[in-house]
Amino acid sequence: MRTRFTELFGIEHPLIQGGMQWVGRAELVAAVANAGALGHITALTQPTPEDLTREIARCRELTDRPFGVNLTILPSITPPPYMEYAQAIVEAGVPFVETAGNDPTTFLEIFKPAGIKVIHKATTVRHALKAQSLGVDAVSIDGFDCAGHPGEDDVPGLVLIPAAADKLDCVLIASGGIADARGLVAALALGADAVNMGTRFMCTAESPIHEQVKAHLVHADERMTQHIFRSFRNTARVARNKISEQVVEIEKAGGSFEDVRDLVSGQRGRLVYETGDTDAGIWSAGLSQALIHDVPTCQELVERIMTEAEEIIHTRLAGLVPA
Ligand SMILES: Cc1cc2nc3c(=O)[nH]c(=O)nc-3n(C[C@H](O)[C@H](O)[C@H](O)COP(=O)(O)O)c2cc1C
Repeated sequence: MRTRFTELFGIEHPLIQGGMQWVGRAELVAAVANAGALGHITALTQPTPEDLTREIARCRELTDRPFGVNLTILPSITPPPYMEYAQAIVEAGVPFVETAGNDPTTFLEIFKPAGIKVIHKATTVRHALKAQSLGVDAVSIDGFDCAGHPGEDDVPGLVLIPAAADKLDCVLIASGGIADARGLVAALALGADAVNMGTRFMCTAESPIHEQVKAHLVHADERMTQHIFRSFRNTARVARNKISEQVVEIEKAGGSFEDVRDLVSGQRGRLVYETGDTDAGIWSAGLSQALIHDVPTCQELVERIMTEAEEIIHTRLAGLVPA
């Protein structure tokens, strides 16, 4: 399948694995790359920029194919050394970066002269247009359905993707709520050039998380996620569990971030993936979990999506329009 994404990025299939805190490590990213899709190491999963350099090298030992790094820029009282992570990415010669979370202007100033292709993840059409005007190579549009931060506008992909396609000229990537060939074909029909998936790639054989978390995703349906942090205008879609319900209760009672800080700590979330206790903390999961019924290798998943997408286009859709 050839799209503007496969052409511009030189990636075999129009499939992307987005950055995932605690999950986007070398073994997953290399498996995605070896399957012919684009994977992203998640920079901030690595404790220091030096660790990121080592993780990139580790990934290169596992694949000869190109891969990217996700740099998530979140407002914080004690921000990580973002610019040092960015320098590590440039010095390692990584060809692709996925930026997310905030205005990427300062980072584009070092990524673009280094010849890095930048995908910026936005949750609104106006932010997507801003990113395009800054010169990013592609915009990934991540709406209401997605795992992690969907923004505050609550516009699902079925409207957000074509609304973005109508306004943007750059390569457009549909993200959120996509886990199979039907999602890929639908996204292409809506005007996207590729799809980005998080939850689906989290539930693969090479994903470096506890098998119990994968088993949870296989059984979870579309009602088993929850939005937290609505009242702080920093909404995040997470797996619904004891902690997420507690957080929402505290928010409803007028609690502040201080009141939930310990419950939502990143270290507790990390425990979920390490111990398999899905109630240990807050962890991201998207509505797309309803479409996940197994734990394939990345190779099996990518092959299945591409084969079934062709079948849908050639058989089901073509059959609807007799020649
Ligand atoms: C476990 C997990 C962690 C994530 N962490 C990040 C992150 O650190 N930075 C980021 O930009 N997106 C993050 N995301 C969002 C994904 O990159 C992607 O945009 C999203 O998962 C798409 O929705 P989907 O899960 O329905 O495919 C995360 C998603 C998951 C499932």
